[in-house]
Amino acid sequence: MALYDVIGIEYDTSRKADSEITRRLMNHLQVFDDSKIVDVACGTGNYTVALSELGLNMTGTDISEEMLNKARSKSNHVVWDQADVIDLPYTNGEFYGATCILAIHHFKDLLNAFQQVHRVLDKGRFVIFTSSPDQMERYWLKEYFPKTMIDSCNQMPRVSDVVDYLKRAGFKIEGLETFLIQPSLQDFFLYSGKHEPNMYLNPKVRSGISTFANLASKEEISVGCTRLKSDIESGRIHDILDRYSSDLGDYLFVVADKR
Ligand SMILES: C[S@@+](CC[C@H](N)C(=O)[O-])C[C@H]1O[C@@H](n2cnc3c(N)ncnc32)[C@H](O)[C@@H]1O
Repeated sequence: MALYDVIGIEYDTSRKADSEITRRLMNHLQVFDDSKIVDVACGTGNYTVALSELGLNMTGTDISEEMLNKARSKSNHVVWDQADVIDLPYTNGEFYGATCILAIHHFKDLLNAFQQVHRVLDKGRFVIFTSSPDQMERYWLKEYFPKTMIDSCNQMPRVSDVVDYLKRAGFKIEGLETFLIQPSLQDFFLYSGKHEPNMYLNPKVRSGISTFANLASKEEISVGCTRLKSDIESGRIHDILDRYSSDLGDYLFVVADKR
């Protein structure tokens, strides 16, 4: 069974569209009419539906049938299609904007993926939300789940590679914008518990995060959670959080443009 066909079963227990991320996606897309937008690797469609509810004409595509089944039940206004990103079932120039949220690290061939998105765009922006290995190096999660975090960093493409592949695929780079996790964040992805360490003690939250669901050994989770619980109780967690402060931001938007 593919990874997200397993993760998909419980995904929406802890994952939902965050309003601030949705607002920024909308702003970066710069689409103000009913032009078609594609959300690549849309998963259970949380952001696809949120953008549709803000008035965009959305199509969502994902490789996982399990994730898409959840997505389909959320909206009839969105067109849902099952596909691998390197084989998008759309004609050239069908869309006027594209998004890809927390997914590029799963793509085996990033250049090919970006070339596909470029192909299906007529013109318009391609907005990626991701994190960089440099940002992840500063996540305090390293303190409790060291091997898991090294493996997670290693699967994340470097920003310079993302930018390089986007340019090679034909995009111009509009800009990069960092994103800081705030305590009010509504979507529980990897570092969303930056200010809420208790969150990682909840197995349901961990099961919606691929780093924990796929890369972490049971032993490291057990040892790490025991230490984390004890540090929360003693208050030592505050020293750890301070030690890992960073000026790199926690995540980032990469905004590319096909003109
Ligand atoms: C962390 S989830 C993100 C889902 C959604 N964008 C969100 O933010 O809720 C990553 C998604 O990437 C999808 N995915 C992984 N590899 C893919 C591929 N080669 N083509 C299309 N989708 C893929 C998975 O099925 C999964 O739904």
